[in-house]
Amino acid sequence: MYLSTLNLKDYRNYRQLECEFSPGINMITGANAQGKTNLIESIYYLSIGKAYRLAKDEQLVLWGAKSFQIKAAVENRRGRTNIEIRYHQEEKPAKTISVGGLRLTKMEELSGALTSVLFSPDTMSIIKGSPQERRNFLDYDISQVSLNYGRDIYKYKRLLAQRNALLKKLASLSLRLEEKKERLLIWDQQLIECGSRIIKKRLAVVEKLTPLARLAQRKLTEGKENIELSYILCYKNNKNESKERDIGSFLTEAREECMEEDLRWGSTQWGPHRDDLMIALDGINLKQYGSQGQQRTAVLALKLAELEFFRGESGEYPLLLLDDVMSELDENRQLQLLNFINEKSIQCLITATEARNLNLREKRQNKRFYVDRGKIEEIKT
Ligand SMILES: Nc1ncnc2c1ncn2[C@@H]1O[C@H](COP(=O)(O)OP(=O)(O)O)[C@@H](O)[C@H]1O
Ligand SMILES: [Mg+2]
Repeated sequence: MYLSTLNLKDYRNYRQLECEFSPGINMITGANAQGKTNLIESIYYLSIGKAYRLAKDEQLVLWGAKSFQIKAAVENRRGRTNIEIRYHQEEKPAKTISVGGLRLTKMEELSGALTSVLFSPDTMSIIKGSPQERRNFLDYDISQVSLNYGRDIYKYKRLLAQRNALLKKLASLSLRLEEKKERLLIWDQQLIECGSRIIKKRLAVVEKLTPLARLAQRKLTEGKENIELSYILCYKNNKNESKERDIGSFLTEAREECMEEDLRWGSTQWGPHRDDLMIALDGINLKQYGSQGQQRTAVLALKLAELEFFRGESGEYPLLLLDDVMSELDENRQLQLLNFINEKSIQCLITATEARNLNLREKRQNKRFYVDRGKIEEIKT
C-alpha cells in the first residue's frame, strides 16, 4: 500500500501543504526545525489515529489557528481510498475522521486505512525505554491490523480508569475488605475478560514477530546474533508461565494477590497495562547488556520484522517512515535496508538534514523534496 497524496492544513508548522509522493523512495531534506519530523508525524497519525510523540491534538494545531486537517489518498490492492482527519478546538466532538467519505463513529475504525512502520531516533526507546514504550510498540502495530484489538485497548483503558477511581473512593470508606472486593467485582470481571483478550493477542503477535525478527537479525549480522522476544506478564517475572496457563485464571489470581495493595495505592497493579516485552540477544537482555551497535541492529531487525508482519496480516507491505535515522546506521546497514526496501517495492519516506546519495539501481521511482519553514517543494532533476 502507499500514500499518493497528502494535504495538511494548519498542522504544526504547515499552514498549507500539498504533496504527491512516489510509490518508491521519497527523500526529504531540510535543515533542523523546518518540519521534517512534523510531516512524518502527520502521516503516522493516519495510521494510529493520534500523534506518536505523546502530543495532544491541541498542540498539533498551528500556533494561532484553531483547527487542523490531515487529508490523504492511499492506494492499495483494492484501489484508492481517501482519509480525512479534522480537529477543531471549539467543536464537539473536536476530532472527526472519515475514510472513503464515510465518517467513523469510533476512532479505532481507522485501523488499516494506512498501515505504516515508523523508525526514528526515538525508536531506540523500544530497547532502552520503559515498559510503556514496548507496550506501545506492540499496541501501535496490532491496532493497525486488528480493529478488535483497538477496541479492546480503548475499552480496557476506560475500565481501568473506572476501577482506579473506585479504588480511591473505597479507600475513604470504612468497609471490610470482603465488601470492598465485592464492589469491585463488576468492573473486575470485565477487566479480566478484556485484559485476557489483549494479552492473548499480544502473545500471538510476539510469536509471529519472533521468527521474523530472528531472520532479519541473522541476516544483518551474518548469522552471528540471535534475537529473542518474550512477553513478560506483570507481577511475576516468569516468562514461561504465560504459555502454559489460561490467561483468565492467571489474571484472576493476580487480582486476588494484589487486592490489598491496589486498595492501598488506589491503582491497579496487575493486567496488560503492566506487562513488558523482553528483547534479548542470545539469552542476554539487550536493555541492560547490549552494546550501542547491537541495540541499533536489533531495532532495525525489529523494524524489518514489522514490515513482514504487516504483510503477513494484510497481504500488503506498509509504508515505511524513516525519520532522521539513516545517519545513525553504518553504511553497510543503510545499504541492507535500502536493498530490502527496493526488492520488496516498499514505499518509503526518508528524512535527513543532508541529501544522501542512495546508490539505488532503480532511480525512476524516486522523488526528492526540500523542506524549508513549513513549505515543501519537489526537487526535479
Ligand atoms: N503547533 C505548532 N505550530 C507551529 N509550529 C510548530 C508547532 N509545533 C511545532 N512547531 C515548530 O516546528 C518546528 C520543528 O519541526 P520538526 O518537524 O521537528 O523539525 P525537523 O525538520 O528538525 O524534523 C519547530 O520550529 C517548532 O517550533
Ligand atoms: Mg526531526
